[in-house]
Amino acid sequence: MSAEISGKTRLCGVIGDPIEHTMSPAIHNAAFIKMGLDYHYVPFRVKEEELGKAIDGMRALNIRGLNVTIPHKVAIIPLLDELDPLAEKIEAVNTISNDDGVLKGYNTDASGFLQALLERGIEPKGKKVVMLGAGGASRAVSFSLVERGVHMVILNRRLEQAEELAGRLSTTFNKEVKALELVADNLAQVLGEADILVNATSVGMSPNINETPVPSSLLKPGLVVVDIVYNPIRTRLLREAEAVGAKTVDGVDMFVWQGVLAFEIWTGAKAPVELMRAEVVRQLKSHEK
Ligand code: ATR
Repeated sequence: MSAEISGKTRLCGVIGDPIEHTMSPAIHNAAFIKMGLDYHYVPFRVKEEELGKAIDGMRALNIRGLNVTIPHKVAIIPLLDELDPLAEKIEAVNTISNDDGVLKGYNTDASGFLQALLERGIEPKGKKVVMLGAGGASRAVSFSLVERGVHMVILNRRLEQAEELAGRLSTTFNKEVKALELVADNLAQVLGEADILVNATSVGMSPNINETPVPSSLLKPGLVVVDIVYNPIRTRLLREAEAVGAKTVDGVDMFVWQGVLAFEIWTGAKAPVELMRAEVVRQLKSHEK
């Protein structure tokens, strides 16, 4: 199934390396077709040293929008004309729009994460958040949550990384963010008081699906447990959280919402969220086979 390409078709895409496993073309093309929009979305493998040429190409070919993934999310910044304020604070961009030659960078990983929570009736403002992980994914999500007004403690296996991220957040938002080593004692101490737990580590990701970053004895009803791992969709952490009556949000939601917000930036149209989610689930199931 593909939309017909005409002389008026607007092109979008994703740049990264590697790029073969991206699910973004599937969700965006399905959404363009559903909404009757004359747009098309393609993957581009762009090597690290060719990023500048790729962005020159975006300008020269008048490509409407690009998603940006590993390894380009930080290196792309000096090549753009404008930055959305949140992307500027995070110092990472995953979406570019091209408005008549003006390239603007956004971070819809961050805003999409927040939207995924709000959409499920979870307002993080004023809540106590335990963040696991201090890598690239944690950085985007942590900035969106602290900006929204949460109280946060970051736990990471390597304490220095947690301290560095916590320090940047504290300085940016003028608000204390704590850092601790990711070990059972510390988890027990902080989860007692927590409202929201976010796993932004890769623990539990396929093929290590029997791993979990948190012993199930520390989970409790009333906690909101969010896992940014989306492969598998129901991680061990989410299954154990559900079993004790905690509310859960899976990583598919975050992936879908970063795509939804990019779609809306490029087209100005409302994205068909449910269709995009169904498309991600379909892709994940077909990869499992
Ligand atoms: P991403 O872009 O997905 O955030 P990343 O930047 O490589 O990827 O970060 C991976 C995160 O998962 C880090 O917080 C990492 O912890 P370290 O900084 O200590 O490496 C965490 N992580 C990966 N494997 C882990 C494991 N087995 N136990 C605990 N944390 C782990």
